[in-house]
Amino acid sequence: MKPTITPHPEPNVTIVAGMQWGDEGKGKTIDYEAKDAKLVIRSTGGSNAGHTIIHNGIKYALHLLPSSIANPKVKSIIGAGVVIDPECLLKEIWRITGDSYVIKDNRLVISDRAHVILPFHKSMDKLYEELKANKVGTTGKGIGPCAADKMNRVGIRMGDLKHCTESELRAKIKELIKVPNDLFSLYGYPEWKITEEEMFVKCQKYKEILSYLIFDVQPIIAREIRKSSKIVIEGAQAFSLDIDHGDYPYVTSSNPNASGLCSAAGIGPTQVKCVIGVIKSYCSRVGEGPFPTEQPDQTPEDVGSIIRELGHEYGTTTGRPRRCGWLDLMQLRRACEVNGVTYLCVNHIDTIGLIGQKVGKLKVCYTYDEGEAKYVTFDHSGWEIPKNCTNYDELPNEAKKYIEYIERLTDVPVKYIGIGPEDKAMIVRQDV
Ligand code: GDP
Ligand code: IMO
Ligand code: MG
Repeated sequence: MKPTITPHPEPNVTIVAGMQWGDEGKGKTIDYEAKDAKLVIRSTGGSNAGHTIIHNGIKYALHLLPSSIANPKVKSIIGAGVVIDPECLLKEIWRITGDSYVIKDNRLVISDRAHVILPFHKSMDKLYEELKANKVGTTGKGIGPCAADKMNRVGIRMGDLKHCTESELRAKIKELIKVPNDLFSLYGYPEWKITEEEMFVKCQKYKEILSYLIFDVQPIIAREIRKSSKIVIEGAQAFSLDIDHGDYPYVTSSNPNASGLCSAAGIGPTQVKCVIGVIKSYCSRVGEGPFPTEQPDQTPEDVGSIIRELGHEYGTTTGRPRRCGWLDLMQLRRACEVNGVTYLCVNHIDTIGLIGQKVGKLKVCYTYDEGEAKYVTFDHSGWEIPKNCTNYDELPNEAKKYIEYIERLTDVPVKYIGIGPEDKAMIVRQDV
């Protein structure tokens, strides 16, 4: 007799991934997508991310908490692929709850597989940057060193905080701090030396406060997959910062492309319904590395500074002014191909209209000639988004032309259009 096999549930997982160099407005897009979702899983990265959302009129700047956290109907998960700085997480929980470490109603769950960033990881991040001839310009949050410990199989995981006995945890700490302590002495930072006791006390504190949130999240995810509930995977960072597909070595230490996000969340690719690729209507980058369409400051037209001021392009995580430039469709085309993007979400259509008004034209890179960006120029004086605009047809014609040019060159439909920072400032094209 043939065994009875339950058919695969209908796929209902949406991946939201950044397509440029980060800060495309993923947080806002995820908050929007989470409206009718059951689960949102933050999948990779750590507190190097800064996701700003304005939910029901309240602004949240999130680093580790999923962008669905303001929505009580959604279960928010910090997945296995995230590297967690508990100090940052505690601060965020404190801020979001008002003044406690208790998130009510099982709204937040943390994977026991996620790795822990300890304070010395940040010192290591600083030291590695100092020693490098070509600086990456990291966020200094200890992301790379923690990821390296994970790969070296000496890392401490959130589950260890909860389940290890004192002697087990002390043994892990001892192993973990050996190399950093040697490096701190070798390179002249003996004051950064860490003791086992110091780390143990910190871990005890994290255990006491956070244990109620730490679980194996796989059964929770599997249950919702079986019911075909809507699940959103929250990407951090972006395609050109991907360690394999980005501008190595000027990248982060994870795979924030759609497949990497899926894997880090613990979801198989057959469950994915669609990939939303998020972009801004222009480009920005923080840190070092190539940026073909960058408009450096102090040029006669001063386009870079105009974009920065009109787009408020200052880092959520470090406060650094972001490097700014025109939209790069060569970069985006590659991102769409590698990520298998189903739909694009184009944010800051309001901002690019204002930039057009100020500069008197808009430029978009459509190809490279020996690495140099070549532009098409839209000769018009920008636009303003009409008040209460909710429909694609109500957008100014020039804005629609800009969007349709993106579609033509990427071969990907633009379904979502961001016209402001608030959760409601999103146009969704139903016919796409
Ligand atoms: P993320 O890292 O991709 O989540 O993006 P960030 O939050 O770091 O940066 C995006 C910034 O743009 C935030 O301040 C958002 O509030 C803002 N934003 C997002 N979408 C729009 C939009 O369509 N228009 C405007 N004006 N601001 C937006
Ligand atoms: P969100 O999720 C923009 C950049 C850093 C640096 C490089 C490596 O808000 O889009 P790291 O600290 O990760 O080792 O730094 O990656 N970077 C980001 N840039 N947005 C981010 O996140 C970023 N996360 C990392 O500036 O160039
Ligand atoms: Mg950001």
